[in-house]
Amino acid sequence: MIIPAISLLIAVDGPAASGKGTIARALAAHYELPHMDTGLLYRAVAVSLLRFGGDPGSEFEAVRAVAGLCQIGPEDPELRTELAGSIASRISAYPGVRAALVERQREFAAQDGGAVLDGRDIGTVIAPHASAKLYVTAAPEVRAQRRVAELLERGTPAHYEDVLIDIRGRDARDKGRAEAPLVRAEGADVLDTSTLAVGEAIKRAIELIEARIAAS
Ligand code: CDP
Repeated sequence: MIIPAISLLIAVDGPAASGKGTIARALAAHYELPHMDTGLLYRAVAVSLLRFGGDPGSEFEAVRAVAGLCQIGPEDPELRTELAGSIASRISAYPGVRAALVERQREFAAQDGGAVLDGRDIGTVIAPHASAKLYVTAAPEVRAQRRVAELLERGTPAHYEDVLIDIRGRDARDKGRAEAPLVRAEGADVLDTSTLAVGEAIKRAIELIEARIAAS
């Protein structure tokens, strides 16, 4: 009897501070799969651009910054700053930047056994064939509150109103761009975490994935 190799590819997409990263990490731990936070790739391009003094308004310079990715480790503290996030949100709209990052994400998604990837276009562009797709969302006000708490915990001063404006701006950019806009992928299950505690959101995400596995 031939036992087919079991491969589980999970795509998790959603807007800023929706809880997608926490859920993706928990799913990876639960199913013992490798995890890629694809937002970090865009943040790393932003940091690389900042370090060589490039202009975020120039697609040419942003694409050039991709070459500097190998010099930025995943634990680099600059990756998590608000500045890196906001420049990432701008340069991620450039088709040239997205094209330069596609292959490494697809390779990660193609590994034996499967993987969990989270971002904005995993279920639509990177892995439309994923075994299960989640679209994690929450009300902008709730996401702003979460982001403020996260920043304060890291010792970064943060004001709710400013953060809310930033979140709304990022949503508009991510959803409105021509290339790979943030949208619920075909076949994705929506998980609204507005009123869910972290543990509840993770439990619900696992239930949704299990239902997809059972149906396939
Ligand atoms: O969670 P947060 O929005 O702060 O940031 P992130 O997930 O680290 O992503 C940073 C930026 O990269 C986002 O604002 C998106 O515009 C962009 N991004 C993207 O375009 N495509 C992805 N697959 C992941 C992130």
